[in-house]
Amino acid sequence: MASSPTSQTTCQGYPGGLEIPGWEFFYQGKVRDLYRHPAYPDHMLMVATDRLSAFDVVMNETVPDRGRVLTHITEYWLQEFSSWMPAARVTCEPEEIPNLPTDFYQVFRGRCTWTRVADRVNVEVVLRAYLAGSGFREYQATGRLWEHELPAGLQNSSKLPAVLHTPTTKAEKDEPISWAEAVELIGNEEEAKKIHALALRIFEEAQAKAEAKGVILADTKFEFGRVDGELVLIDEVMTPDSSRYWPADQIVPGQEPPSFDKEIVRSYLRSCEDWNRQPPPPAIPAEVISKTRAQYLDICEILTGSTPVPRDES
Ligand SMILES: Nc1ncnc2c1ncn2[C@@H]1O[C@H](COP(=O)(O)OP(=O)(O)OP(=O)(O)O)[C@@H](O)[C@H]1O
Ligand SMILES: [Mg+2]
Repeated sequence: MASSPTSQTTCQGYPGGLEIPGWEFFYQGKVRDLYRHPAYPDHMLMVATDRLSAFDVVMNETVPDRGRVLTHITEYWLQEFSSWMPAARVTCEPEEIPNLPTDFYQVFRGRCTWTRVADRVNVEVVLRAYLAGSGFREYQATGRLWEHELPAGLQNSSKLPAVLHTPTTKAEKDEPISWAEAVELIGNEEEAKKIHALALRIFEEAQAKAEAKGVILADTKFEFGRVDGELVLIDEVMTPDSSRYWPADQIVPGQEPPSFDKEIVRSYLRSCEDWNRQPPPPAIPAEVISKTRAQYLDICEILTGSTPVPRDES
């Protein structure tokens, strides 16, 4: 693979946007393409593309296999907790998706999820075990984190006294909300407490599992929905897109640790001083893309013990 910052990447990721004969392409998220088939109105096909967004802008380049890594990690965590936490997803095997034309098997393999359509709970259930990012900025400004009063003297990347819930809306731009607002969006307090307890149990068990592998799971965001009245996990689960994973041996109090995600891209974009963080984004050098791909494969291998594709295939 090319390594000079100015050279173009020779490898191609999957940018999404394909039309599938007989299916309706009904939603394009930043990362996922959603399709439905008229014969299965209660299900949908979610395809994790290799698109990459940073500062809420989708880049022109793709990171080969990024969507496969996100799907692989989600599947790993769903299986870890499947004995007590139901999920909306049915299968990730293209062969098991009804009416999917066989010529899509190869391009979708590893990145497709056939899932029941849930009645989505429009709250992002964010749990934080460490201070970082917007949480740290809020603490610096107010001494608090959402409604939680915090002790003085905490630093960037400090461990919090307890895992804290900092819910946001699930909207175009996610806004912080109070517990009372979350209860209202969820419908009632009992259900809100149930969602919080489920999320906390998943997060704490995952933290322990990750820590045993040398990785700190600093925070994460879950999405829940209801299928036939039952609470289920939807969307992605504890991926590097929805979570901060830090190498345990690289935490220095007062500094934001390097994280296993798009930080390489973000720091490249910060160096593009002319860019105003609005589309169109600057071109990302091939070297930045290939380093980002390597980071995604690294965290995938550490967490799950495997990668969805051979590391050098691109
Ligand atoms: N089983 C499900 N039932 C209903 N909605 C789902 C289900 N699984 C995922 N979703 C929704 O599908 C969409 C997936 O798209 P994607 O993750 O690309 O986009 P996004 O949420 O719009 O953007 P971002 O994740 O970057 O905030 C999300 O809106 C998610 O809430
Ligand atoms: Mg999403």
